[in-house]
Amino acid sequence: MQKTVCLKMTDICKSYPGVKALDHVSLELYKGEVHALLGENGAGKSTLCKIMAGAQKRDSGEYYIGDEKIEDLTPSAAKEKGISIIYQEFNLVPYLKVYENLFLGKELKKGMNTDKKAMIAKTKEILDRFNIEIDPEARISDLTNAYKQLVEIAKAVLEDAKVLCMDEPTAPLTSREVDILFKLIQELKENGVTIIYISHRLEELFEVSDRITVMRDGKYITTVNTKDTNRKELVSLMVGRELGEDFPQRDSKIGEEILRVENLSTEKTKLSNINFSLRKGEILGFAGLVGAGRTEVMRAIFGADPRTSGDIYIKGKKVEINKPIDAIEKGISLVPEDRKGQGVSLTMSIRENISLVCLKQICQAGRVNLKKDREWSEKYIKALEIKTPTMEQKVKNLSGGNQQKVAIAKWLVTNSDIIILDEPTRGIDVGAKQEIYLLMNQLIEQGKSLIMISSEMPELLGMSDRILVMHEGTITGEVSRQEATQQLILEYASGGKMSEV
Ligand SMILES: Nc1ncnc2c1ncn2[C@@H]1O[C@H](COP(=O)(O)OP(=O)(O)OP(=O)(O)O)[C@@H](O)[C@H]1O
Ligand SMILES: [Mg+2]
Repeated sequence: MQKTVCLKMTDICKSYPGVKALDHVSLELYKGEVHALLGENGAGKSTLCKIMAGAQKRDSGEYYIGDEKIEDLTPSAAKEKGISIIYQEFNLVPYLKVYENLFLGKELKKGMNTDKKAMIAKTKEILDRFNIEIDPEARISDLTNAYKQLVEIAKAVLEDAKVLCMDEPTAPLTSREVDILFKLIQELKENGVTIIYISHRLEELFEVSDRITVMRDGKYITTVNTKDTNRKELVSLMVGRELGEDFPQRDSKIGEEILRVENLSTEKTKLSNINFSLRKGEILGFAGLVGAGRTEVMRAIFGADPRTSGDIYIKGKKVEINKPIDAIEKGISLVPEDRKGQGVSLTMSIRENISLVCLKQICQAGRVNLKKDREWSEKYIKALEIKTPTMEQKVKNLSGGNQQKVAIAKWLVTNSDIIILDEPTRGIDVGAKQEIYLLMNQLIEQGKSLIMISSEMPELLGMSDRILVMHEGTITGEVSRQEATQQLILEYASGGKMSEV
């Protein structure tokens, strides 16, 4: 590869109250490379990208785009210079259509009027070029996260980005979409686009990146060529120590049936005839592609979506669950996939978020026991290594991964017997992932039962006692821990075993 430096940052510093987010960080990007940023939650990856794209101001340090020295940079000036960023948090306007989002603020005109036809055609051309099957006239709010992600990228392509930051682009995607994304990245690269790629999935970095810069606690650690490094080295560079086994062992003592779902169907979310049971002390994994209906099953069980049919039994007794509060009262909790929307209150502090769900434990004679309240928060901040100056920090000021940890902490403190975790480790760094696995095992040892939806195959295989696979709203396969392989699961996930088709 020809090594033309297209962007250079040196000695960048950035502080927030109580936090040194970036401490003399330097970065050099080559034209047409995929450059990964790797580091634990709160290491400063997103902050660096935001400064690059003009969304945050640096306190000090130098910044060059090509040969041009950059002083102040607004987001729109950055865009004009070809620096685009796809945020961890989606940035599309939900009630607008796909093509309207792509052309927002730069609508094509025909005379005095907007040229709807031309915009739709251009949108379709980009989507087709990358094999993205989305109707240009679909409303953003009707799309799944995976598709929203692809629309964001299509938007950057339209804007002719030269440097494109992708901040955890694959977090909401599953294997098929990841493949599409990687193909797209390859094409962008061939067109000379430089990509900054942030992901906590190490295996992806090996597949997609040319170089990797490791950050830790706001500091630059090193930059390595991807082909010259390995997983073990990267992990120890990013956490500063060696980590043990990926998946902690647990004593599986699987007991009697605790939850049974019979003939569950929904109209709006297109589930048909879902049957399964969960046993005490079991981790039941749910595999499937995006859109297979896993989240929808859980929402229906939890009373968040209406069912057209379906009975739910807890410990053999039929129960009525018509709204989430019924489910919570029956001892079911759900840690949702969309944690921003449903999992945490961004404007409240970490402590307030945690105490909301454990009011019972921290209330005495109708009053909040402040000492206990703080103890709980302290305990979970420590257990999950939530990176924050204080427990009073507003959740919106935390890094993406640390927000996820708060959402999970919230539910780990409940007393439910059945805990449903929808993508529990999405956006979480390797070290903290292990903490979450340990906490899951502890819950199991306390006699609780878990359902885990996950799009990360190693996690499904490593943690589940049994895995159910879904495809287009039905369960297409069940595999035990012993027989589970990636191949088998993918076969079921695409609609059945290949050999039987
Ligand atoms: N607006 C803000 N106010 C206060 N602190 C902030 C703000 N934005 C980021 N921080 C802090 O800066 C640090 C770096 O955050 P950043 O979002 O860059 O981390 P990250 O490496 O992207 O982590 P993750 O993998 O969790 O997304 C964190 O400690 C975070 O809490
Ligand atoms: Mg981040």
